[in-house]
Amino acid sequence: MLVGSTLLLGWYWPIMGLIVGSGSLVYLVVTGLMSLRYVAAAASLANRWDTKLGGALADAISCNTVVKAFGAEAREDQRLAKIIAKWRHLMRRTWERAAIRGTGQSFMLVILKAAVVGYALHLWSRGQVSAGEVAYVLTSLSVLYGYLRNLGLHLRNVQRSASDMEDLVEIQGQPLGVADHPGARAIGIMKGRVEFEKVDFFYGDCQLPLFNALSVSIKAGERVGLVGRSGSGKTTFVKLIQRLHDPNGGRILIDGHDISTVSQASLRSQIAIVQQEPILFHRSVADNIAYGRPGADQAEIEQAALLANAHHFIRSLPDGYGTQVGERGVKLSGGERQRVAIARAFLADSPILILDEATSSLDSESEVLIQDAMNRLTLDRTTIVIAHRLSTIRTLDKLFVFDGGRIVEEGDHESLMHIDGGVYRRLFERQTLELTGNLTQNQLCRDDVAGARWARS
Ligand SMILES: Nc1ncnc2c1ncn2[C@@H]1O[C@H](COP(=O)(O)OP(=O)(O)OP(=O)(O)O)[C@@H](O)[C@H]1O
Ligand SMILES: [Mg+2]
Repeated sequence: MLVGSTLLLGWYWPIMGLIVGSGSLVYLVVTGLMSLRYVAAAASLANRWDTKLGGALADAISCNTVVKAFGAEAREDQRLAKIIAKWRHLMRRTWERAAIRGTGQSFMLVILKAAVVGYALHLWSRGQVSAGEVAYVLTSLSVLYGYLRNLGLHLRNVQRSASDMEDLVEIQGQPLGVADHPGARAIGIMKGRVEFEKVDFFYGDCQLPLFNALSVSIKAGERVGLVGRSGSGKTTFVKLIQRLHDPNGGRILIDGHDISTVSQASLRSQIAIVQQEPILFHRSVADNIAYGRPGADQAEIEQAALLANAHHFIRSLPDGYGTQVGERGVKLSGGERQRVAIARAFLADSPILILDEATSSLDSESEVLIQDAMNRLTLDRTTIVIAHRLSTIRTLDKLFVFDGGRIVEEGDHESLMHIDGGVYRRLFERQTLELTGNLTQNQLCRDDVAGARWARS
């Protein structure tokens, strides 16, 4: 329309057409350049600091307990204030540039209008055009004016949307960590046999493989413990079973199905997991337990809690099963959170269970309750435990001893203890020693306190 109107005007009045055509062109080029070079550059930087500000805020809020524990409120305030100052400066700069662009656009349109009206009046005063022709030019100009203003607005909107979507486009462009094959089938796990066939795996850019041709198998219903030093590959082993990463070589089979060919959602929905530090939702206890099987009724939820030795403590909470547990379950103790997570796993009733035991020590009553619940939970299902507690380790069918990504020993507790100078034997003996050491120390402390009390009396 804009081009058509300009050409029509130029057909009757070539010089007028030239003024309108070149004026419109200058207007569009300057608006485009200002949007892309001047405003977009500032907006892009401001957006980056907007993301930074969001991250800093999330950090300060989610790590609030650490901030308080270190009395670092003032330090965090200062850090946040610096980021906010920079963000405010960049935001203001973007708005100022956008305002300058808007003023520039209006200014160019006013000049164009003045030039056209001035030239038309000049021709009319010299009698070269009639009043009707001047009226025709002014009407055409007001139509053109509207088009130009709209075009300017569109350019501005495109620039603003492109700047706002910058982060989104970047995230969208990132390759998926683990992608399902097109038309990947759902897996139906009946028995729960797990096999690693010459599995190679390394993290990201790390060129040294963590697992190198790792082959191992876990029978259906077997209870296997993973033990080994920190960083030896235990967590990675279970992550590969959940298909949180794909191996770089070899295959992982569950009941004979290569898990890289099945859908991730179906696989993970049939593997229950109790994490080292169970994370609960900021919802009621009942909702947290029912997460293992959406749609479970109250009786099923309570049955699962009973099996997990959690029913009694839940009943004593202010609102029983309806009690809100706070963000990530902060209103419950570590042992209580674990039992809720175990109840969730009971309800999920999955053929494969992964337990990542808590390393932090629990009081002996909690430990007995949790151990008792775990024994019930692991009955008749393939269980893989990242084992830290001596009480768990001894009762498992088989132990895999990890060292630097290799399984260096395999067998039950008794047979591994018979390997002279074996890795497991050394680990076990050290743990027992630490435990007895702690006990003796506790005993000594108690004796000291008793002695002091006796001396005072
Ligand atoms: N996301 C990751 N990116 C890069 N390297 C990683 C990643 N996760 C783990 N690693 C590395 O892989 C190795 C094995 O880690 P893994 O978490 O499997 O050990 P672990 O046996 O579970 O240790 P821990 O007993 O401390 O939990 C470690 O050297 C670790 O630094
Ligand atoms: Mg680990």
